[in-house]
Amino acid sequence: MSRSRSQPSVPACYALVHPGLETIAAEEIENDLGGEVKKTGPGIVVFRLPEIDARVLKLRTTEDVFLLAWGSDQLSCRAEDLDRIRRWTAREADWPTLLRIHHTLRPKPKGRPTYHLVAQMEGRHGYLRRDAQKALAQGLAGTVPESWRPVEENAAVEFWLTIRGATAVCGLRLSDRTMRHRTYKVEHRPASLRPTIAAAMIRLAEIGPPHIVLDPMCGAGTLLAERLAAARLLRGGCVPVWGGDSDFRAVRAAAINLRRLGPAWLAQWDATRLPFPSATVDRIVSNPPFGKQLSNPDAVIPLYHAMLLEYDRVLRPGGLVVLIVSAATALRSAVRALGWKVQRQLSIRVLGQPAVITVWRKPDS
Ligand SMILES: C[S@@+](CC[C@H](N)C(=O)[O-])C[C@H]1O[C@@H](n2cnc3c(N)ncnc32)[C@H](O)[C@@H]1O
Repeated sequence: MSRSRSQPSVPACYALVHPGLETIAAEEIENDLGGEVKKTGPGIVVFRLPEIDARVLKLRTTEDVFLLAWGSDQLSCRAEDLDRIRRWTAREADWPTLLRIHHTLRPKPKGRPTYHLVAQMEGRHGYLRRDAQKALAQGLAGTVPESWRPVEENAAVEFWLTIRGATAVCGLRLSDRTMRHRTYKVEHRPASLRPTIAAAMIRLAEIGPPHIVLDPMCGAGTLLAERLAAARLLRGGCVPVWGGDSDFRAVRAAAINLRRLGPAWLAQWDATRLPFPSATVDRIVSNPPFGKQLSNPDAVIPLYHAMLLEYDRVLRPGGLVVLIVSAATALRSAVRALGWKVQRQLSIRVLGQPAVITVWRKPDS
């Protein structure tokens, strides 16, 4: 991204995404919103929409969306960047237009408006995050009316500056915390998946309305919740999702999280001995335990072997399996004997660990 500024008519937007999910988020923006992706950077997707309306707040693979004030992928990472941040914020951005669009999507609450400045910084730079935040504040002098009150939480307007290596984006946050955390997730389990990662896995599963979707190790039910939520968004409805877990507390948590989203059949079971006939499910989307979540990390190898044999039994020919694991080699060696074909693979980090999302197809016959 060389330095860019928004056009006066419909400004550009950007999304912050979990690093590794840039291509999936770009696909969602293009396919579901008719947007045009202009640039992607580390955990950043810059795009334009024909018009900016509430649909942008329904994106499911993005952590946050913003109106773009300015962006650059040519920071020097030296102290001279601070001058640029100040100057671009003061001169390159059309803040009145951005604020007007912001207020249509996020109406100002009654009373004296509140605002908050956020500066995020990743990578090595010759200045501190607080210096970048100060440069942002200086660039905004005269933009924020004197009557507005700075607050730390729940501000009506948030000005963000995100710096990742040589890339920086600055803008107004349109989303709130429910975009990344969702509202359904009231019950939590250890090692529960981030909803945006679960949403990406559901997209990768290419699920049709009649497909039976199974998560045999469902934990708090995040993947099944994202399936049901995606079906609701398309107003398509769907057949019940199937899920289970060996831990009854997980089954209970999933039941609570899913209850307002759609139909689900949940049970306590061992995923290596599932209680249904062969060739009954169309899609398996799951997040088996990572090695470090087991008392003996080497136990993932026999677990993956036994679980995949069972998944192969219950999956219909031509069905898809989407799994996220950290022990990719153990998974690949377990799959080899089954003849499944890799369709797609994404590398991401989960809970500070490298992980891989893989999409496999079971052969047709
Ligand atoms: C990483 S967690 C899944 C998290 C889930 N995706 C979520 O978002 O909450 C792995 C789950 O697998 C379950 N599990 C482990 N071994 C199992 C087995 N043999 N059968 C069924 N569930 C199992 C654990 O109880 C745990 O809830």
